[in-house]
Amino acid sequence: MRRPLIVANWKMHHTVAEGLAYVTILTHELKTIGNVDVAIAPPFTSLYSLSVALSETPLYLAAQNLFWEEHGAYTGEISGSFLKDVGCRFVIVGHSERRRLFGETNAMVGKKVSAAVRDELIPILCVGETLEERQGHETWNIIEAQLQAGFSDLRLATLEECVIAYEPVWAIGTGHATTPKEAEEVHGMIREWLSKKGGSEVAERTRIIYGGSVKPDNAASLLTCNHIDGALVGGASLDAKQFASIIRSAT
Ligand code: PGA
Repeated sequence: MRRPLIVANWKMHHTVAEGLAYVTILTHELKTIGNVDVAIAPPFTSLYSLSVALSETPLYLAAQNLFWEEHGAYTGEISGSFLKDVGCRFVIVGHSERRRLFGETNAMVGKKVSAAVRDELIPILCVGETLEERQGHETWNIIEAQLQAGFSDLRLATLEECVIAYEPVWAIGTGHATTPKEAEEVHGMIREWLSKKGGSEVAERTRIIYGGSVKPDNAASLLTCNHIDGALVGGASLDAKQFASIIRSAT
């Protein structure tokens, strides 16, 4: 059985003080958390203080991005070893906002995934098609290319140390999630791809989570699908009570 994973992606929201207040509310709301992994990905500036606050809880810390070199003259970049040092367990890689706004290519995303594994972080590789690509029946071609490049440098046995997030670009921040049926179909194809690449055991163990307008009122219907092993939540994760409600849907 794959343990569900629910990740809050705060993007560029919440100051240090707001983040700490959020953790207090979230831990109060959750009391105990059942059979589910929960991670919070705050802005870089809050990683340290959240790491301290989360150390008393079962919640994990995640980063929203990393650079592939370990250290050196790379002004403005942060490597996996620094993220590990500050207490991160997970790192989001290749989010569509990074691809679209910051020019991250499939090849760059592949280097980041390998660097994350090298630095003992669990990469959450984001894949997904735009509306245009979906309408042009390109969904699977796009996702397959993203998976292929994302994992190109990895030994196949390490695939299960990674998480895949299917995030249709047209569903992100729009309030229009995919239907559970549409998401399940793509998740099933990703699992089949994993099986071909790494074998059926790897495919069975690897978590494939869904992202794109996940809210308290649609979380349960998505999370009960066979191949949907969790959620990557943007907008609805900014409110601790809403995020707690999504976490409860996974247990
Ligand atoms: P959303 O964002 O939940 O606001 O659609 C999801 C994401 O970008 O990971």
